[in-house]
Amino acid sequence: MRRGAVTVSKMKELNLKVNGEQWEVQAKDFDTLLDVLRRELALTGTKSNCLEGECGVCAVLVNGRVVNSCILLAAQCEGAEITTIEGMADGEKLHALQQSFLDRGAVQCGYCIPGMIMSAAGFLKENPSPTPDEIREGLCGTLCRCTGYTKIVEAVHEAAQNMSAK
Ligand code: FES
Ligand code: FES
Repeated sequence: MRRGAVTVSKMKELNLKVNGEQWEVQAKDFDTLLDVLRRELALTGTKSNCLEGECGVCAVLVNGRVVNSCILLAAQCEGAEITTIEGMADGEKLHALQQSFLDRGAVQCGYCIPGMIMSAAGFLKENPSPTPDEIREGLCGTLCRCTGYTKIVEAVHEAAQNMSAK
């Protein structure tokens, strides 16, 4: 709908499956998945920063693949399995990646960490036994301005070993 010079987009109902649960949410045509996760579902673990697909802090899994949720329309995600950082733990038990980030002290301010963990989770699905260099390359789309990446790479390497030992 157009009013004067301003385009007004009506809210529509979308059905999204997030962290194994089905949700009906209200979204405008141009709402991104990030908008809907944070605004409609209060899943604020997924962070918002550049909104241009450059920093990776908004990474989530869509059908098991890493996507930057700030550049994906929510409407494109109907029927998909969406996983956010809130869906990684199994009840009280942290995901192996979350546990190894804690154990290795791989977190400083923490702002990039949800995106880093989701990127790592998607990467490890494709390469379950990576070398440290492969991990660096695999996570190059997620920026961290605090840690220098060394502990992050160690944490992902340790998590990969723990996951493949199971
Ligand atoms: S906020 Fe999505 S890539 Fe930066
Ligand atoms: S821990 Fe601060 S940006 Fe990565």
